[in-house]
Amino acid sequence: PDEPLVLGIETSCDETGIGIVRGHTLLADALASSVEQHARFGGVVPEVASRAHLEALVPTMQRALDEAKVTLADIDAIAVTSGPGLAGALLVGVAAAKGYAVAADKPLYGVNHLAAHVAVDTLEHGPLPEPAIAMLVSGGHSSLLLVDDLTNGVKPLGATIDDAAGEAFDKVARLLGLGFPGGPIIDRTAGNGSASIAFPRGLTAAKDLAAHRFDFSFSGLKTAVARWVEARQRDGEPVPIADVSASFQEAVCDVLTAKAIDACLTHGVRTLVIGGGVAANSRLRVLAEERAAKHGIEVRVPRPQLCTDNGAMVAALGSRLVAAGVAPSRLDLPADSAMPL
Ligand code: KG4
Ligand code: ZN
Repeated sequence: PDEPLVLGIETSCDETGIGIVRGHTLLADALASSVEQHARFGGVVPEVASRAHLEALVPTMQRALDEAKVTLADIDAIAVTSGPGLAGALLVGVAAAKGYAVAADKPLYGVNHLAAHVAVDTLEHGPLPEPAIAMLVSGGHSSLLLVDDLTNGVKPLGATIDDAAGEAFDKVARLLGLGFPGGPIIDRTAGNGSASIAFPRGLTAAKDLAAHRFDFSFSGLKTAVARWVEARQRDGEPVPIADVSASFQEAVCDVLTAKAIDACLTHGVRTLVIGGGVAANSRLRVLAEERAAKHGIEVRVPRPQLCTDNGAMVAALGSRLVAAGVAPSRLDLPADSAMPL
């Protein structure tokens, strides 16, 4: 019962998250979001996010400790997202983590935000069978990864060459006048429509596959949606928002799942784990399951609250690092906004 108690701090974007785990068990997941402060700008404003983290951090910490019914003294290690993400936002979390680590004399672990999005699945489904293919789809990233060892061997197979999947959801929602962040709104709106419009699937043509087999491209799709909507408006016809949403969503999910399954088959891997905010998408979950089942591949997707940014994911990866006997970070740990995997 006495697996290490690990606390995780996440501040890479607009969510201040503090999670506490013991082994693979989630004990607390406290979250404060500045998303509403960014909504009127149609995207996250870095300076606003940093200030919001500074205000939210200590109260969120207290909520997490209360929720887990522990004190800082009970914690065995502190993990923090040290990159990639918004520089100023990361600095708040990293500085706070150092303060807590020094004050309470605890080891500090700087962790990669993307690897944490993969690790969070262990809180829901237990140890990750390795090797696995991980698909990370968020507002800032869309990548396929070969995971040999979550604590040290994550190999990028491909990534988006332009917009991230979540960014495409956000941009298309904006052009449809649906609000920010667009992913969840398009997901809901698509439920009332049909995927009847044939939008392009980026980097799936035979000529593109040679160089970009596991890469993605979503900016052509976004442009195609914009042109389609403009044409309707020019003709003075109403825009069928639900059908456009469903058709756009289908194009994104079709490409993502096809390439993820291809990566599994190519590398002889039987486990696909999906993480990042877009993994909360209802159609993506269904389509991935459907296609994976045909090949005997197991799909692991954490519940939606764990897919978007949170502190539990950071604690989950910290917990794996502690269990693997990885050495802690130094106290001069930098924040690295462009941290590679
Ligand atoms: O992982 P995340 O919370 O933050 C980043 O690290 O980027 O991902 C946020 C992104 C946003 O672009 C948001 O629109 C998208 O995830 N998202 C969704 C859904 N929920 C969030 N996209 C599609 N369907 C959803 N249900
Ligand atoms: Zn994220």
